[in-house]
Amino acid sequence: QRPQATEQYRPKFHFTPKANWMNDPNGMVFHKGTYHLFYQYYPDSTIWGPMHWGHATSKDLVSWQHQPVALYPDSLGYIFSGSAVLDVNNTSGFGKNGQVPMVAIFTHHDPKLEKLGGNKHQNQSIAYSLDEGKTWTKYAQNPVLKNPGIQDFRDPKVSWYEKDKKWIMTLATKDRITFYSSPNLKDWTKQSEFGEKVGAHGGVWECPDLFPLTLGGKTQWVLLVSINPGGPNKGSATQYFVGDFDGKKFTPLSTDTKWVDYGPDNYAGVTWSNTGDRKIFLGWMSNWEYANQVPTHPWRSAMTIPRDLSLRKVGTQVLLVSQPSKEVSKLGSSEITLDNVAVKGEMNLSDKTKNTGPFQLKLTADQLADFAVVLTNDRKEEVLIGYDKKANQYYIDRTKSGKFDFSNKFAMRATAPRLTTSAKMDLTLIVDAASVEVFADEGLTAMTGIFFPTDEFKTIKVRAANPLTLRKVTYKRMGVGI
Ligand code: FRU
Repeated sequence: QRPQATEQYRPKFHFTPKANWMNDPNGMVFHKGTYHLFYQYYPDSTIWGPMHWGHATSKDLVSWQHQPVALYPDSLGYIFSGSAVLDVNNTSGFGKNGQVPMVAIFTHHDPKLEKLGGNKHQNQSIAYSLDEGKTWTKYAQNPVLKNPGIQDFRDPKVSWYEKDKKWIMTLATKDRITFYSSPNLKDWTKQSEFGEKVGAHGGVWECPDLFPLTLGGKTQWVLLVSINPGGPNKGSATQYFVGDFDGKKFTPLSTDTKWVDYGPDNYAGVTWSNTGDRKIFLGWMSNWEYANQVPTHPWRSAMTIPRDLSLRKVGTQVLLVSQPSKEVSKLGSSEITLDNVAVKGEMNLSDKTKNTGPFQLKLTADQLADFAVVLTNDRKEEVLIGYDKKANQYYIDRTKSGKFDFSNKFAMRATAPRLTTSAKMDLTLIVDAASVEVFADEGLTAMTGIFFPTDEFKTIKVRAANPLTLRKVTYKRMGVGI
């Protein structure tokens, strides 16, 4: 059976809702071998509207089961972004007879109050589930954290701070982060504010996350902060800070701006809770510049692949590294490996790869040189993913990618800095229907971009103006069930 023409942009192993609008990932929590993904969802349209929390579950992070909507708007407003935790010690008292409650902490956004003015329309509320996220009960005394009069006061990410045996809420407050703490998820006390004179401030701060990672045996804290607009390639993007957190205050190691992903289409990403030392990140693969216009039907937007986060020291800097989670790397059939591939002008990989459907392509070189991977079709539409030696930048060029006139913000050449001085280069691309995720220098620079060719990109070429030898080219078809 031929897939519906409108389904041509549906990815195979990236999460999409069956139908209608989706934005941020929410409430990501791992429990009893199941990854829960909740998400900003409007079940009545492919355009953003009154927000619900959609719900999906997965055992392996790449095949997803749709679940009924978890949280519906109510008299306190729409259900905006937030997080979920397992309250193992039953600090909230929601657990009965030894049950461990799953607690969701989210923003209630009241459109009626918003119209009245006064900046009190975003407040933090909680809900709990005693049946593994299937059904939810909202706390009768919501909201649990009232707005002091800040227009943007939202997206609580809550985690357990073992040292002080308390919960920490990391909240986006205008273009600052405010930390709160609580013994029971119900009573919250302000701890500190972060954000003055650090990072990017070209837009409002949203969807933060705070978690520890170890580097050389030392604990470092990572603070993710999405910002819209003001990203490195316009619109929405996620910046990060590495530093210290003492249960009250976050102190960054440096004040400059760094980005989790430099591409145009990775926003509002956060990590799963309850995964131990492993930190698994997932973002929304779109950008508020054109999210409501992208030509997919009957759904809108996909999530990124899950990525494992770690830290790496580069010179004096401590940088965040993103790599496809092993569940993604495991997907797929046998690899095709080519050694010492000489490229001059253009080389077509497609005779070897017989490409159709999703794939992973990895290139390594022992020299730095200009080159581009070209995804193309018979209509000469193309997406270029490459390295520009003079500018020392990676890029995704989708200026000729097929459909792009649904928004004048979409056609672009997005760039990202190369962050290492190593003389060797590696580039991994993961392509699934309408997106490419790029991991350069073993994940030091990540870029994500979506695209909409009128015909599938079945041809893969490598283009290099000056002769270039690729030490290794590895190609693998990917997809659930392949
Ligand atoms: C980020 C965001 C959040 C908000 C949600 C509303 O994309 O604007 O700040 O909670 O989307 O859907």
